[in-house]
Amino acid sequence: MSETKSASEDAEASGVAAIVVFGATGDLAMRMLWPSLFHLHREGRLPEDCRLVGCARLGIPEDEFRTRVRADVAQKIGPDAVTGADWRSFAKRIVYLAIDATDADQLSALRAHAPPERASVMYLAVSPALFGRIALALGDAGLVGPGTRLALEKPIGGDRESAAAINADVARHFSERQVFRVDHYLGKEAVQNLIALRFANALFEPIWNRECIDHVQICIGETIGVDGRTDYYDAYGALRDMVQNHLIQLLCLVAMEPPYSLDQEAVRDEKVKVLRALKPPSASEIGAVSVRGQYGAGYIDGVLARSYVEEAKRPSGTETYVALKVEIDNWRWAGVPFYVRTGKRLGERRTYIVVSFRNVPHSIFAGSPLANNELVIELQPDEEIALRLMNKAPGIGQDGMTLQAMSLDLSLSDSFKDARRRIAYERLFVDMIEGRTTLFVRGDEVEAAWSWVDQISEAWKQADVPCETYPAGSWGPASARALIARDGRAWRD
Ligand code: BG6
Repeated sequence: MSETKSASEDAEASGVAAIVVFGATGDLAMRMLWPSLFHLHREGRLPEDCRLVGCARLGIPEDEFRTRVRADVAQKIGPDAVTGADWRSFAKRIVYLAIDATDADQLSALRAHAPPERASVMYLAVSPALFGRIALALGDAGLVGPGTRLALEKPIGGDRESAAAINADVARHFSERQVFRVDHYLGKEAVQNLIALRFANALFEPIWNRECIDHVQICIGETIGVDGRTDYYDAYGALRDMVQNHLIQLLCLVAMEPPYSLDQEAVRDEKVKVLRALKPPSASEIGAVSVRGQYGAGYIDGVLARSYVEEAKRPSGTETYVALKVEIDNWRWAGVPFYVRTGKRLGERRTYIVVSFRNVPHSIFAGSPLANNELVIELQPDEEIALRLMNKAPGIGQDGMTLQAMSLDLSLSDSFKDARRRIAYERLFVDMIEGRTTLFVRGDEVEAAWSWVDQISEAWKQADVPCETYPAGSWGPASARALIARDGRAWRD
């Protein structure tokens, strides 16, 4: 649908009439979306008359739906949050429609709350298999106006082909500017801070390239397992569940060229260029540049965790861990490896990026080995930035100088102690309400990411790359250590 500017401006001027959550009783909605909306309501960030409409197939009365939302908000934010006036005014906004959203006739019940003449957000927190059908049904039901925004929760499809089919169905009634493909990592403060760190400081840009950088590491480590989502997970595995989106987004923010502005197209254009420059490994080299792993039983913080196979209750070759040596074929990054890894049931929940700089060309300190300078960006659980530098240790060493690597630390968690740690979805909802798409994934971007992931998956198949078991509570299979050690480097565990 083409967007006429004045109609869109009219729709926006009157504010978002409704946020409609499809899959309203599902896990994501209950754990993240409703609590995020409640926070925004409490802070006065939702438009005055904005309805919050839950849609799902479950035939329960509206009151019961509110009770469920209340329980989940209480669990996420605390029981006190749902006892006062804030909860009562929030509950008044909530409407529940038990409908099949793929059926245009049933969808017309939405018209009373989300008329197409007003702006609205249609958030699809449902299986990607339904994205195309619901988007088409919304159009057929005449519910899509110039101010209607469609939010799609990841994963967008399961490979490039299915993602392209979803994009094509969506494009029948929505222009690209109306589509908000969610990768919740982009809603995290720490991830947005990567943009600030790189482009608000003159210090890094001149050395952010192959001349000065030895390698980059990106790690998303989780202690949780698949938590009852075995059907979904078995079809996706860590490559599609984590690498295709969250990990690749972090990589793009580290590797992209400076965008000319924070404008939605400027930032996303630069990310797409990185994705297109990712080198696809061939079947003959995939074994040397990737590791697949699956967790066995083991102890995490002294508690016994079951193996993936026990949780799935069937034999499975699905990977819960991936390590990759990634190459980016462009002028800035030629020859600089990006070692990335992600896994479930690891020893620690930690997400970090390490930019390791080249060592000095000639050392005058014969008695002390010099470690590479490193910029360490910790994103989770605490947000910290540290610059590792070589220093002289106090005292009179044998050679006159004893050196030691030390950190210049910036703890954002400490500096902004009083700032509430937001749920990533809060920021994303605000952007959807205000119509800003910079922090959402563009159609061509999602397809480019899938293209690269599909090639890895195909190479795994052709080369029959095995899935190695690692004990829960460890840092993954031993061969992941070997992958980086072959290049004379080590993971920062
Ligand atoms: C989701 C994945 O997108 O991200 C999950 O499907 C994963 O498997 C989760 O656990 C991690 O998110 P966070 O915000 O806890 O790092």
